[in-house]
Amino acid sequence: MAFIANITCLFFSFWLLFFACFAGVLMGVVSGGCGGGRELVAVAEDWACTFITTKLWCSNAYGELVLPQLRRSLQNLKMEYVDLFLIHWPLSLKPGRYEFPVRKVEISPMDFGSVWAAMEDCQRLGLTKSIGVSNFSCKKLADILALAKIPPAVNQVEFNPLWNQKKLREYCKANGVLLIGYSPLGASGTLWGSSRVLENEVLKEIAKAKGKTVAQICLKWAFEEGVGVIVKSFNVERMKQNLEILDWSLSEEERKRIGDLPQSRGCTGESFVSENGTFKTIEEFWDGEV
Ligand code: A2P
Repeated sequence: MAFIANITCLFFSFWLLFFACFAGVLMGVVSGGCGGGRELVAVAEDWACTFITTKLWCSNAYGELVLPQLRRSLQNLKMEYVDLFLIHWPLSLKPGRYEFPVRKVEISPMDFGSVWAAMEDCQRLGLTKSIGVSNFSCKKLADILALAKIPPAVNQVEFNPLWNQKKLREYCKANGVLLIGYSPLGASGTLWGSSRVLENEVLKEIAKAKGKTVAQICLKWAFEEGVGVIVKSFNVERMKQNLEILDWSLSEEERKRIGDLPQSRGCTGESFVSENGTFKTIEEFWDGEV
């Protein structure tokens, strides 16, 4: 196990709302490991309040490798099942290699048919309550929906006031897929993130006027938009602060100002793009959704 860290993980949405009602859900992230996935280990006062998600890493994104990876992840987690199992990225990598940044020459298109069928088997076997995808564009989600016997429950993607996923959200809603947002604060401190969300002048102005922090404005906005978000903090005070968003509201004008902010991706997927590779441009990788 590479490292264990505490984060708060909030799932704000209509059917996941109840997670947010329990303060202080402390979760640990266990990354790496033989499964090559990312496992969330929940440590909470009440186990029933936790929601465990794990992901299929790209080097296991082959029909015959899906079930073995989930079994290894469950072994690592010491659990019999997880709540949600997601395809991490819509691509495959050379089997057996677990590194990031990835070797771009080892990227290949994923065979959605065999991988999704194996994901469905995982759910049928009771090893996960639900299955879904992550970082899928409308087009790639449509490809999965076209062949799915069990449709994806979730598409987990970047989501914050500077990348509000308007088109994808509408598509997900129309197709019964719940959009869950990662990087709701812009993921500062990560390879792909920056402080551009927390330092945004409009968000700062709204926060000042309301006597809230920019982080709380972002989370409240996501909550009011009906999007589930995964917000991370290593700091207990900030974890508490991030939960204090339930007893106040944004005004219509504030929501409009946030909705009008210029949009661009923070997580561009650049790590998977190369001139002679499977995805030659960022536009191609996201099917024009940039
Ligand atoms: P820290 O762990 O020191 O609190 P995201 O959820 O978008 O991935 O962003 C995570 C980043 O945001 C982390 O660097 C985290 O730092 C920081 N963060 C989390 N909550 C807050 C907050 N309430 N105010 C400011 N920064 C925060």
